[in-house]
Amino acid sequence: MRIILLGPPGAGKGTQARILTEKYGIVHIAAGDLFRENIKNKTALGLQVEEILKAGTLVPDEITIKMIAARLDQPDCKNGFILDGFPRTVAQAEALEEMLKKKAIKLDAAVQMAVDDDELVERISGRFTCSACGEGYHDKFKKPHDPDTCDKCGAKDKFTRRPDDNAEAVRTRLGVYHSQTKPILPFYEERGLLKTVDGMAPMKDVTAQILALFGAKDAPAKGFQVKKNG
Ligand code: AP5
Repeated sequence: MRIILLGPPGAGKGTQARILTEKYGIVHIAAGDLFRENIKNKTALGLQVEEILKAGTLVPDEITIKMIAARLDQPDCKNGFILDGFPRTVAQAEALEEMLKKKAIKLDAAVQMAVDDDELVERISGRFTCSACGEGYHDKFKKPHDPDTCDKCGAKDKFTRRPDDNAEAVRTRLGVYHSQTKPILPFYEERGLLKTVDGMAPMKDVTAQILALFGAKDAPAKGFQVKKNG
């Protein structure tokens, strides 16, 4: 399975990517997570992009494409991947097409997650994450059983909120999505790869919709790479 998850901030790209990777052992490549990891580790790349992420604008194409190309070169991508947050511009979509062509890899689909802007603001403002394992939560839609403890890894007092999840940066991120990312939808439509799911549905229904695109209901579809140990 080699797919791109497309959608505005808060559409649920990360949520669905985590569910699918856990279930099928496909690599999750999230551009935002890679940038945040670099910021956390204070690498040269992290220092370069920190203010850009805080403001909610896009990191220049050249930097982003280089980072993703290096990630796709890793051996764990051979059996399949989910790209989350990349591509985000037409130039990135063209660069990805070129990268995959060189590797003789074909994309299965670009899955657009459609969600209303009003819902996105509510989702983003309620989001928090376990900094120990990366599990995502929400004040309303996905609360941990114990308010201070991660359901997944058991870490206590490790919940954090992203610095770009404030009202101003969210407005910028939404504007950037409409002006710079939406134009890539026709790119994938022309190639017969664009599929759309209703991202407003409950999380498990969105997962089912994505799986149904590949002929699966609650089981790996033909062509999915299943974890050997899972
Ligand atoms: P990035 O980290 O990619 O952020 P984003 O696209 O803004 O996406 P989010 O992570 O905010 O949302 P999501 O769709 O993953 O939603 P989630 O699953 O968390 O990028 C951050 C920044 O990095 C960018 O602004 C830019 O600066 C830079 N960057 C990244 N990629 C780049 C690129 N290619 N080029 C240039 N710059 C780049 O869900 C949100 C919340 O909703 C969660 O709390 C979740 O629990 C809840 N939720 C999810 N699904 C549902 C549902 N179905 N029903 C109810 N609640 C739900």
